[in-house]
Amino acid sequence: MSDPVLHLQGLHKTYNTGLPGEVQVLRGVDLTVNAGEVVALVAPSGAGKSTMLHIAGLLDVPDSGTVSLVGQDMTGLSDRKRTAARRSDIGFIYQFHHLLPEFSALENIVLPQLAAGTARKAAEARARDLLDRVGIAPRADHRPAALSGGEQQRVAFCRALANAPRLLLADEPTGNLDPETSDQVFGALMELVRGTGLSALIATHNMELAARMDRVVRMDAGRLST
Ligand SMILES: Nc1ncnc2c1ncn2[C@@H]1O[C@H](COP(=O)(O)OP(=O)(O)OP(=O)(O)O)[C@@H](O)[C@H]1O
Ligand SMILES: [Mg+2]
Repeated sequence: MSDPVLHLQGLHKTYNTGLPGEVQVLRGVDLTVNAGEVVALVAPSGAGKSTMLHIAGLLDVPDSGTVSLVGQDMTGLSDRKRTAARRSDIGFIYQFHHLLPEFSALENIVLPQLAAGTARKAAEARARDLLDRVGIAPRADHRPAALSGGEQQRVAFCRALANAPRLLLADEPTGNLDPETSDQVFGALMELVRGTGLSALIATHNMELAARMDRVVRMDAGRLST
């Protein structure tokens, strides 16, 4: 059996706000995501989904516990190595697209590839292929402001996959869309993920969307249960 793509063990995280009463968000989170598996993370608002995804995505550090990517413990690595691992192995999607407003849809998907050392021609070809897969190839030259909310999120999905990561982390990726658009855009995301065999951990409030994934984990009182 190959190493799991993501393995979280004993994660604890407390926010010290300086105000009375600290916030113990994660109290021993354990999770394994295997190759090709798509896992839904479901929990009420404030339960700690974003906190956990940011730690898994090497955007934040836990107080204790370990984060392993494809068998390698990331916890003790230097900032430089963590940044390199984040760039090559992890795609992150936020609730809001966070696209660069002054660049076209295509350029938003090309730029992270150039940063990773891909040649421009190959990067553009990949960007066009990704846009085609999510059904918005004709919008390649539009800037984000000239795209609908659903189209903006589709571009953000393509950008997250631009460097062919091993793991996709998504924090309520369709949370700011109306229910019908959310359903369609989520369908596009799932096709993209399934079509590339990617492993994914996707936070959502929507039980219907969660049911379309391979497995659902729930967060309660700082721990996960199935
Ligand atoms: N930087 C911070 N400093 C202090 N407390 C924080 C910080 N970030 C988050 N928290 C607190 O940690 C808890 C978990 O927050 P988190 O954003 O992880 O929840 P969430 O499950 O993603 O919620 P939502 O569904 O609303 O996005 C909340 O009670 C929040 O107030
Ligand atoms: Mg959140």
